[in-house]
Amino acid sequence: MAPVEEKNPVIYPPRVVSGIQPTPVIHIGHYYGALKQHIELHHEYPGQTFVLIADYHSLTRQDSEVVRNGTMEIATTYLALGLDPDKAVLYRQSDIPEVTELAWILSCQVRIDELKKIADFDKTVGLFVYPALMAADILALLGTVVPRAIDQGSNIELTREVAKVFNEKYEQDFFPLPENRVNMVGSFVPGTDGEKMHTEHHNTIGVFERFDSLRTKIAGLKTTGKKPEESRNPGDFTLFKLLALVAPERGLVLGKKYFDGEIGYGEAERELVNALQEQFGPYEEKYHQLKNDPDFVRDVLRENVRKVRGIARDTVDEVRKLVGLSLYGDDE
Ligand code: TRP
Repeated sequence: MAPVEEKNPVIYPPRVVSGIQPTPVIHIGHYYGALKQHIELHHEYPGQTFVLIADYHSLTRQDSEVVRNGTMEIATTYLALGLDPDKAVLYRQSDIPEVTELAWILSCQVRIDELKKIADFDKTVGLFVYPALMAADILALLGTVVPRAIDQGSNIELTREVAKVFNEKYEQDFFPLPENRVNMVGSFVPGTDGEKMHTEHHNTIGVFERFDSLRTKIAGLKTTGKKPEESRNPGDFTLFKLLALVAPERGLVLGKKYFDGEIGYGEAERELVNALQEQFGPYEEKYHQLKNDPDFVRDVLRENVRKVRGIARDTVDEVRKLVGLSLYGDDE
């Protein structure tokens, strides 16, 4: 009897793909919800961490000024905060035409009812197919790990689903099913009004906020429901929530002191201002230096185009063969 042929499971080399939309002012919600984790991951996966600036995605909502300035702002901020271009590949989504090519092919596999569960389908077609483009970002690079961007869990689930459906249809383990790496901060960084920090909510604290305005914003932090004199529970206050995020150990100690009545609210406010300055101050000079040297930032993005396109081209060429699009022989 012929031996049963054993199918070896395909081992995909580990590769991180993460993304963020261009935005003109980078706030600490972006930092704790995305940038921080991306920068940490590039030390864990040096050379195999890909960070894309999702400018095509941002066309679904933003005007041209935001797309243009926001792209440079994101790139500048990543580099200022320590993203090492030798370890992470920072690039623009719209520089990689293979991604949109793949997005079409994948769209032909995505079921409408899957998209309807998660997409904004009462607006534009772009918003509706947004998750398919995101799947193409990840799968074009055969990404195996996707750090969970703010509120992106269902898009990553869809990516896994598309990869699975594709693999089943074409009967091979072609795409990896990327792991959704949850960010412990999750999706909620409170803004100055206690609601989720979001540019459109006008409740943000900038990563490089100037000292005066930082102080004013911290002094004006809204408590969640209660006034300082009504509660000594740190969990009731945006102030302590932010402190726990920026300086977890100090946040714990101060929270307890506040609970025990040993310190007042003002002291915790001063600590938060200090903690933010300690966290981001050291990068400020680099940030201004890069702001004055946009050519350097553009060059980093430009130099990565060839590398990313090379990987994506290989994937898409294979995909074209599988789906029946290769014709001339030289693409075989
Ligand atoms: N949609 C993501 C966001 O708005 C950005 C994004 C685009 C992304 N493509 C991606 C994130 C691929 C991770 C992987 O935050």
